Amino acid sequence: MIAIANQKGGVGKTTTAINLGAALAKAGHEVLLIDLDPQGNASTGLGLAPEARRLTTYDVLIEGAPIRNAIRDTAQERLRVVPATVDLSSADLELVGKERRSFLLRSAIRPSQLAELGVDYVLIDCPPSLSLLTVNAMVAAHSILVPLQSEFFALEGLSQLMLTVREVRQTANPDLRIEGVLLTMHDARNRLAQQVEADARETLGELVFTTVIPRNVRVSEAPSYALPVLDYDPGSKGAMAYASLADELRRNHTRLAA
Ligand SMILES: Nc1ncnc2c1ncn2[C@@H]1O[C@H](COP(=O)(O)OP(=O)(O)O)[C@@H](O)[C@H]1O
Ligand SMILES: [Mg+2]
Repeated sequence: MIAIANQKGGVGKTTTAINLGAALAKAGHEVLLIDLDPQGNASTGLGLAPEARRLTTYDVLIEGAPIRNAIRDTAQERLRVVPATVDLSSADLELVGKERRSFLLRSAIRPSQLAELGVDYVLIDCPPSLSLLTVNAMVAAHSILVPLQSEFFALEGLSQLMLTVREVRQTANPDLRIEGVLLTMHDARNRLAQQVEADARETLGELVFTTVIPRNVRVSEAPSYALPVLDYDPGSKGAMAYASLADELRRNHTRLAA
């Protein structure tokens, strides 16, 4: 269970959730994407119109709806989604004062349920904040994947994120790992992007994925066709990068299991 998190907006969280999910599904894994952002971009990007989102993450977290009832198929085989709508934007306020407020997602998705549903990977698309929703994701997840846009200040936001990770480790989820930091929207010819990559690799070392996601217009076009870029344009640089990210992630997991 991997939370895709960064409190900055527009860094490629949703794009990564959709396309890493699609790439893992194409590699034969059963993937469940949980849309934890009230903007519901992951749901839209996978073709779920708002009116088709009958039960949502809100119902699962706040109303105690069984997660299996909220799961929807997508056009991509083996990729399923728990959609979100703008309802979820009030969740943070509604959760304040609830005793187990950080544990709702963890309680909603038990390993036994995932086994029953045949799910291999859960990807959680977090909102652009370090709100209770993101904390719920970090408490439920085994690891976090941090998309980092190759631009100035990218690394500064990271220390804030890591503080939250440390807090979650101390209080609720001591085993929370960093799956990796993913450089996104990378323009290899841009000097600043090169510098950000060099800095990230120097300070974070092995935590940075070898795979870098290039800036690629096909990636940004795909959601308006309700498709992962891997289906929209399989030969594009963006599609190939996400396929390679899925390979790298699977290799890391094999290594960890050994
Ligand atoms: N590799 C990429 N190349 C080009 N555009 C991208 C790429 N990744 C993301 N984008 C675009 O950047 C914008 C922000 O990405 P998004 O995944 O929604 O970020 P977040 O979920 O972190 O807010 C979107 O319009 C998306 O289509
Ligand atoms: Mg998003």
